[in-house]
Amino acid sequence: MKAIIPAAGLGTRFLPATKCTPKELLPVLDKPVIQYVVEEALEPSGVDEVVIVNSHEKPQMEAYFSPDPKFEDYLRAHGKDALAQKVHQAGELPVSFVYQDEPRGLGHAVWCAAQKVGDQPFLVLLGDYFVPDRQMCVRMQEVSQQHGGASVIAVAPVPADQVSRYGIIAGECVGSYGDSGATGEQEGAVWRVTGLVEKPAPEDAPSRLFIVGRYLLSPRIMDLLATQGKGAGGEIQLTDSMERLLEEEQMYALVVDPDEGCDTGTPAAWAATNARLALRDPQMAAAFKEALGDEVKLG
Ligand code: G1P
Repeated sequence: MKAIIPAAGLGTRFLPATKCTPKELLPVLDKPVIQYVVEEALEPSGVDEVVIVNSHEKPQMEAYFSPDPKFEDYLRAHGKDALAQKVHQAGELPVSFVYQDEPRGLGHAVWCAAQKVGDQPFLVLLGDYFVPDRQMCVRMQEVSQQHGGASVIAVAPVPADQVSRYGIIAGECVGSYGDSGATGEQEGAVWRVTGLVEKPAPEDAPSRLFIVGRYLLSPRIMDLLATQGKGAGGEIQLTDSMERLLEEEQMYALVVDPDEGCDTGTPAAWAATNARLALRDPQMAAAFKEALGDEVKLG
């Protein structure tokens, strides 16, 4: 199974940092943001390749995921084996690239990987958010298996005044994940999706459950994306093709807690994610708190 990470954007929210460095390569602690997403994409056992949808403006992305044996040898020769190993790991990840050179929307970005996907179900992970070590995509896969291999998306409740920032689902709660017994908007509830709308006005939103950016999709969606017209914001929207998919196939949604993941979509969220993970990191927490000194009181 393939996992797709759309990553062709210009990262304008992070300018001037992203003038020369792709947003996806900005570090969270000592690792680029996108590596967390790639590692998350590889958690489900069946994923054999992560396809990054890149733009030709960002060749550094391919360089990062390429092997660099000369640099590794240099580090080892200088006694830096642990760092050499980290460089090695980045070059070993099963990552490939396709290109989207015009910003035509998320639906178009996903469609750019159609040939890689073929006739198999696939994952899509949006890169402004990552969920380390929580097996979110694995849980989605289990829900899919319980429903005959149907498409499954992760959703979460959002305040009514924020629905217009997201894709919102319509549907009904039909069960729960594992033995959680969750219902309604509770974490672990499973919904059958009956409709989807991208960035609705609050009065048009069919629920408060938004798509958090983790999708397990039927390959049929690629055919629908090929003919998808422009939607919200004048862009080709993945949500619109998913709405069309509902005419032919079933789709389910798993309610997750978005706070189990880390947001890196804005400079403020990125900074908070760095702080949160620094505090969680056994090797860094003490030094991080000491470096902050008395300026900020952290737990
Ligand atoms: C995209 C999707 C939207 C989803 C959101 C999650 O929107 O189109 O359905 O809810 O990601 O972050 P974007 O953030 O690209 O506007």
